Amino acid sequence: MGSHTRIIIGFAIISEDGMLADAQGWLPDSLKIEADQRFFQQGLDGVDVVVHGRNSHERQPNSHLRRRLIVTRKVPALERDVAEQKAWLWNPAGASLEEALSALGIRDARLGVLGGTEVFAMFLGHYDHFHLSRAHGVRLPGGRPIFPQVPAQSPEQILASHGMERGPLVFADKELEIVTWRAPKSECGARIFVT
Ligand SMILES: NC(=O)c1ccc[n+]([C@@H]2O[C@H](COP(=O)([O-])OP(=O)(O)OC[C@H]3O[C@@H](n4cnc5c(N)ncnc54)[C@H](OP(=O)(O)O)[C@@H]3O)[C@@H](O)[C@H]2O)c1
Repeated sequence: MGSHTRIIIGFAIISEDGMLADAQGWLPDSLKIEADQRFFQQGLDGVDVVVHGRNSHERQPNSHLRRRLIVTRKVPALERDVAEQKAWLWNPAGASLEEALSALGIRDARLGVLGGTEVFAMFLGHYDHFHLSRAHGVRLPGGRPIFPQVPAQSPEQILASHGMERGPLVFADKELEIVTWRAPKSECGARIFVT
């Protein structure tokens, strides 16, 4: 137990109706937008560890270099991933985030949270930044929502209800907008979580 400097950053691209994948659970081509993929890759190159559910690997050229926690119920707590050298399989019901980060050999860290739905929800209330990309003109009825409360609530309402504020418009064109939501007291690098 002790205090840690930890920055938690969410990254998601969603349809206009708040979905991150289609009804079959696939990321459709309509959400693969070059400007967003560039932003996503640069963002992930600036984090120390990525955290995602078993189906949300980002599959980028630098992916093999990243330390990674893969959230799964297939292990009781924490196990090294045999398929990927820098990855651990993590069941949050059996091991805390502190224990998972210790397994990776880090304490103070910038964490990139990549989804899907349950994993994004798990960190609500803890994000320092959430980069929310929205594809204009794309609707995915019956798709996988960014948070379980969508569509009853919009993603923006959910972020705001967890104390986040709409920050700068990072990018906008006719296909896409990227807005960074921020926790009010978050100055990059300065938020302290006591655990
Ligand atoms: N547009 C975006 O920004 C974005 C972001 C993320 C994902 N996606 C897309 O969304 C699609 C589907 O993702 P998905 O819904 O399958 O999500 P996912 O979170 O990648 O995978 C779900 C799996 O993660 C594990 N998991 C999730 N929450 C858990 C928890 N609380 N405790 C333990 N294990 C947990 C479970 O794995 P086990 O079955 O192994 O127990 C679960 O079956 C993919 O096509 C992906 O590309 C898009």
